[in-house]
Amino acid sequence: MSADGDVPAEPALVGNGDRRLTVASSVPPLVISGVSKIYANRLRREKAVTAVDDVSFTIAPGAAVALVGASGSGKSTLAKMITGSERPTAGSITFGDLRVERLRRNALRRFHSRVQIIFQDPYGALNPLHTVGYAVMRPCENFLGMSPREARRRVHELLETVGLTPPTQYAAKLPHQLSGGQRQRVVIARALACNPELIVADEPVSMLDVSLRAGVLRLLAKFREERGLSLLYITHDLLGARVVSDEIIVLNRGRIVEQGRTKQVLQHPRDSYTVELLNAVANPFAAADGARPSPEALTARPPAEPAV
Ligand SMILES: Nc1ncnc2c1ncn2[C@@H]1O[C@H](COP(=O)(O)OP(=O)(O)OP(=O)(O)O)[C@@H](O)[C@H]1O
Ligand SMILES: [Mg+2]
Repeated sequence: MSADGDVPAEPALVGNGDRRLTVASSVPPLVISGVSKIYANRLRREKAVTAVDDVSFTIAPGAAVALVGASGSGKSTLAKMITGSERPTAGSITFGDLRVERLRRNALRRFHSRVQIIFQDPYGALNPLHTVGYAVMRPCENFLGMSPREARRRVHELLETVGLTPPTQYAAKLPHQLSGGQRQRVVIARALACNPELIVADEPVSMLDVSLRAGVLRLLAKFREERGLSLLYITHDLLGARVVSDEIIVLNRGRIVEQGRTKQVLQHPRDSYTVELLNAVANPFAAADGARPSPEALTARPPAEPAV
């Protein structure tokens, strides 16, 4: 642990009462079928934008899928449709027996206790006026119907889970008293508070210092493994995708251009766009002469990196 009380190497899991620990196989598949999103231009001066174009894929129970693509390729739009904050122009999104695009009000609220989204900006995600304890406690009270006392106990468990110890100390802090990595851990604790079955993480580490990224990624990978939750990890970064995912889907201009097991895609990219993304990766194993990273280097085990 660092001097300021940041992160133990192996955070403990929340207690045995956690339903994800005991019934991991109950996570339903997420099925995205022929989904498109066209943003019409209300002023009619510019053309409509096809942000997502006929996309289909499935996230199996407990699987981790990385959605990779350049800026503007439609990743966040897809994330918003999966979490019900945008509606597709065409196609369907099902989670178990729910048709996500048809959910309204209370049904959507209940759905949000099962599917959580983590955004890239840990600075914007937390209300600056609310303590860490309050931020993590709200979903416990709202979604799990816990009493304030039960919720407080759970907040402490969750803060320990994400390595913010001692939890009583962190619960009393305001966001501005935390580092970026610590804030993103609070955001993750808040996302885990209602025992979600699927987490959509939209570039959760892109605003963090490079030295902090590996710790947050490992934390997500660990939860996914130990709690059996499914993960959609959205990123520009193929190296990060390698750490977290079993499968990679590459989007280009709203369309899937490549899809396969992570190692397979990294070692034998078939699409020219994927090769381009591989070329753009900042590779710590690359030769000093700036040669392009070898696929072997990209699929090798990452070196040990400092925790957040
Ligand atoms: N509300 C909106 N209205 C109009 N166009 C939009 C809207 N949201 C997104 N777009 C457009 O849809 C396309 C896809 O945007 P999206 O935010 O999904 O990309 P992204 O892959 O997440 O990019 P980044 O990596 O930069 O976050 C872009 O061309 C964007 O300008
Ligand atoms: Mg985005």
